[in-house]
This record gives sequence, structure tokens and C-alpha cells, in this order.
Amino acid sequence: MRRLLSSLYYGLPSARATMFLIPPLYWFRREAASVLLKEVLRLRPRTVLEVGFSDAFLTRRLSLALPKSRITAIDTSDGSVDKARRLNLPNVRFLKDDFFNHRGRYEVVVSMHVFVLFDHRTALKKLKELGDVHLITLTGFSPFTVLHRPFHRLMTGMDVNLIEPEEYERIARKEGFKVRVVKINDVERSYMVVCFNPS
Ligand SMILES: C[S@@+](CC[C@H](N)C(=O)[O-])C[C@H]1O[C@@H](n2cnc3c(N)ncnc32)[C@H](O)[C@@H]1O
Repeated sequence: MRRLLSSLYYGLPSARATMFLIPPLYWFRREAASVLLKEVLRLRPRTVLEVGFSDAFLTRRLSLALPKSRITAIDTSDGSVDKARRLNLPNVRFLKDDFFNHRGRYEVVVSMHVFVLFDHRTALKKLKELGDVHLITLTGFSPFTVLHRPFHRLMTGMDVNLIEPEEYERIARKEGFKVRVVKINDVERSYMVVCFNPS
């Protein structure tokens, strides 16, 4: 049963995308993508890794915003990879890969609302291998995210590791990153962290 629910939740990106037609989700996702894109455009990286692209909502925007950059987008879901490849984005390579197994070096790593699925310390250690600048959106505790959490666990078996920005900053600093936090939306309690690896 869990496998079935899980394969429906992340395995069918088009079905998941329809949930984002519901007004608050629609705005939350657009806001998060626009904050990430603004920062990406400021940095203008030549190489980008996007982690967990799902229905390629952010990838399509990255591809348009950075036509001369090489973008690698990874996701563990076969359904997402198959669907995204059909978009034929000229500067994007879609791969089925797990973030924790991925190898490579990028000017910027970008990820929208995926790192809440990871253990934060372990993910930060992995980020150091992949590049020096990381733009990650996360969510803290709000009535909305606290209600969403059991639903996500039921559907996927995965916990959502909600974390307040101050706590994330503390963990990232301990891992040696310089960190800047940009608030996105108070209702979703979403924010972007810009982590620089100074070494
Ligand atoms: C919460 S969704 C976010 C999708 C998209 N970034 C968005 O904001 O709509 C998480 C996505 O990350 C993918 N994912 C989960 N664990 C992953 C991992 N370890 N490596 C790569 N992708 C992963 C899932 O398959 C799913 O498509």
C-alpha cells in the first residue's frame, strides 16, 4: 500500500503538479522559484546542479534564465525523469540519480523544497563535495507545514524535517559554511539559504 501511495506521489509528477493549482500552493511554489531564480541570475553560474526537479517547474525557468549554462537536474523518480526528458530543454541534462550518490562539481547547486526530506547535517556534508555555492529552500514550523507533515509521511513514508532558519544556520555554520537567509513566505514559513563554502 505504502509503495503504491509513494509511487503515485512522486512517481507521477503530472498528478502532483495538479495539486499546485490549489491557490495557496500555487503561490507558495511560484514565490519560492522566483526567490531562487533571482539569486541564480545574480550569480550567473556556468554550471548548475538542481536536486529533486519533479515536474521540472524550476528547471524550465532555470533553462530559460540561463540559456548558456549547463544544467544537470537529478531526481530519484523514474516518472519525473521520463517526463522531463520529453521537454527537450537544450541546456539541461536530466538524470535519474540520488543526491547522496551523485558525483560532480558545479558552480551552484539549487534545490527547491527537497532538502526538508534529508538529514540536514548529512546533506550539508554532501553539498561540500558538489560545489561551493548552494541555494536551498526549506520550511520551518507553521500550522500549514505541521498539517502537511503527516500527510507526506502517509503518502511517501518519508518524514519532512521542518527546521527553523536559525537552527539551519547554526548547523551550516558548524559545517564551515557562510550562510545568508532570505525569507520567502510567512504562512508556509519558507525561506532560502545561501550557503557558501569558503574553503
Ligand atoms: C518535495 S518534491 C520537490 C519537487 C520540486 N523541487 C518542487 O519544488 O516542486 C521532492 C522531489 O525530490 C525527489 N527526491 C527525493 N529524494 C531525493 C534524493 N535523495 N535525490 C534526488 N531526488 C530526490 C523526489 O523524487 C521528488 O521529485
